[in-house]
Amino acid sequence: MSTSMSTSTAFENIRTDFLTQLVATDAGRAHLLSISVEAEEGDEGDIFGQLEVAVDDRDLARIVARHRDDEARHAQLFRGCLERLGLELQPVPDELRLIRHLADATGGFQTAVIETAEDIVATYALLHAIEARGVEQFPRIAEAFAPVDADTAETYLRVSRDERGHLRYCERIGRHFAPSEVAWQTALDEARDRETAAFFAVGLANIEHCTAQGWVHFEVPA
Ligand SMILES: [Fe+2]
Ligand SMILES: [Fe+2]
Repeated sequence: MSTSMSTSTAFENIRTDFLTQLVATDAGRAHLLSISVEAEEGDEGDIFGQLEVAVDDRDLARIVARHRDDEARHAQLFRGCLERLGLELQPVPDELRLIRHLADATGGFQTAVIETAEDIVATYALLHAIEARGVEQFPRIAEAFAPVDADTAETYLRVSRDERGHLRYCERIGRHFAPSEVAWQTALDEARDRETAAFFAVGLANIEHCTAQGWVHFEVPA
């Protein structure tokens, strides 16, 4: 097993333990669901609005609109979980906002101007990496929630199924505008690297934050 593989496995074990502890309290549940709402509503640079204009193909523009509407619906689903559990939406500190962190790290998204085919490809590669993370992580959150609240667990699984469909949207539009399959795969690789770095940084910051709040009790191994 390579070093990066074992580091990644160790991180995933910590994350599973972390999620289990987090959903055990109302404050932890509110925090986790608030992060999910924030992530689904994280389109601060109006990326989808820009894509809808830049994607000059009626069928593909329709996919952009459907994708945007799905994300808005996901935020509503998570808001519904908060309401059903009698919890309030909590402010999410900037350093725990994955999408914003990714924007800051790449100089993209928040300030991005999406006009050219190259811009569209880069944007869809990054969206693809974000969607893939959702597909990977939401079932884990669902598993943590299952013994606590089956409806919230089901919501995460349902959203995860949609995110899987969004991967196909990203692939279809990314490939359409990429000059070649190699160019698309290269864009995907770059985006995945950026997203992975942001995910680890934000994940560790979140563990630190929740530990400081006393929601989890936890030692991060040196
Ligand atoms: Fe979503
Ligand atoms: Fe999505």
